[in-house]
Amino acid sequence: MNIAIDGPAGAGKSTIAKLVAKELGNIYVDTGAMYRAMALYMIKNGISPDDVASIEDACEHADISIIYKDGAQHVILNGEDVTGELRTEAVGNMASSTSVNGKVRAKLVSLQQKLAETTGVVMDGRDIGTVVLPNAEVKVYLTASVETRAKRRYKELVEKGQEADFEAIAADIRDRDYRDMNRENSPLRQADDAVLVDSSDMTIEEVVSAILDLTKKA
Ligand code: DC
Repeated sequence: MNIAIDGPAGAGKSTIAKLVAKELGNIYVDTGAMYRAMALYMIKNGISPDDVASIEDACEHADISIIYKDGAQHVILNGEDVTGELRTEAVGNMASSTSVNGKVRAKLVSLQQKLAETTGVVMDGRDIGTVVLPNAEVKVYLTASVETRAKRRYKELVEKGQEADFEAIAADIRDRDYRDMNRENSPLRQADDAVLVDSSDMTIEEVVSAILDLTKKA
């Protein structure tokens, strides 16, 4: 059984998808990490987010693969494990900008579809239910208000001892939502057959249990 979880940045997709995968014995696939690895390659090579020719050229030179170590996904970029370098705001914003490119998407969608061919997956992203796995048995559109998502991100940064500015985080989330939802290629949208789950007032356990209920009915 394949489960597609789409939604905006900060809705809790990866936390939820990991727990659902564990319960079902499926593999968790974080597709955002693949777009982030491409973005990291571009940052490291000094490519600007509006230099389309260089972004498309990068698709030929950035080899991305996924391996699993103790059940956790690791992203390999040209032979190097870059997993630890992917979760910064700079890489996230570059990924949001460069993922509008059709060539970047085609390369990563094909990798994602191959991963789901041989095993049951819980895959999260923006276009999983609409483009990558249109036949997924369960599709969820997981969202939360901008305010809730900004609060969660703020708390996460403060807990890590990093500086955090709530208004700047909220503005960043709004910008990212706008880019992800209004791009020409595979914009973020709820698939017609996806179930909407708004996690603003739900605990992690409640969201996981709602999704597990959907898998029982599928
Ligand atoms: O989920 P994330 O924040 O790690 O994703 C980073 C960016 O990658 C996101 O802003 C848009 C892009 N992305 C995408 O276009 N399609 C996906 N399936 C996953 C992520």
